[in-house]
Amino acid sequence: MRQIEVCLSPDLIHLYDVKDKIVVVVDIFRATSTMITALANGVKAITPVADLETCRAFQHQGFVIAGERNGLPAEGFELGNSPLSYVNQAYQGREIAVTTTNGTLAIEKSKPGSAEILIGAFLNLQVTANYLAQRDCDVLIHCAGWKGRFNLEDSLYAGALITALPTSHTFNCDGALAMEALYQAHKDDLSAFLHKASHAKRLQNHNIEADIDFCLTFNKFNIIGKLVNDKLIAQTVSTEQTILEPSSITSR
Ligand code: MLT
Repeated sequence: MRQIEVCLSPDLIHLYDVKDKIVVVVDIFRATSTMITALANGVKAITPVADLETCRAFQHQGFVIAGERNGLPAEGFELGNSPLSYVNQAYQGREIAVTTTNGTLAIEKSKPGSAEILIGAFLNLQVTANYLAQRDCDVLIHCAGWKGRFNLEDSLYAGALITALPTSHTFNCDGALAMEALYQAHKDDLSAFLHKASHAKRLQNHNIEADIDFCLTFNKFNIIGKLVNDKLIAQTVSTEQTILEPSSITSR
């Protein structure tokens, strides 16, 4: 069996050996949920960028620029960071450059030495698990957190992904053990529990409630998001495995 680990914050990633591992970067509210939604709705590619000025410069190359800081759209950018901006193929065939508070930084920090970088979301949980189960590779789940701090939603995603990989991956990492247990404890009231999370409250204060519910939808899309030459693209995964809903997933 392959190993799976969980890094709970980008400020801890230097403590992990990512060499030759598949790193799954997760930012449930909202960066990776938005990126998966955009790719599933026909966006050609997404270039994640750590800072605002570098991202703004992509506009001159014909990119759509999207930016968010502290949950709010960045000034002068065409888009903020809502997954709902991309539904109904609103940006089909376009290239997007995006910068966010935590998610794009976590992607940047995952690059050195890793074999592959995927982006994870509840929206495509099972297809990501199917892909990882087929790949003979150790996995590190990298939670974007909030400005270096632990956050609940990314960590629970880690627990859900671990739970969806019962036969291909095992762990002897306390982060993985804790997140699997936390997910088992809250898989039946996940939405209610995560509506109490600090960033959910931040988004509610900005009247961005609809994004929270959307980001907590399971298995809406059947694509994985993979970083290829610094651009995120969509890939489909052939699988024989059935799609599992949260309540039917039992612990190890
Ligand atoms: C982030 O990168 O911190 C998040 O995606 C923030 C957000 O979109 O609200």
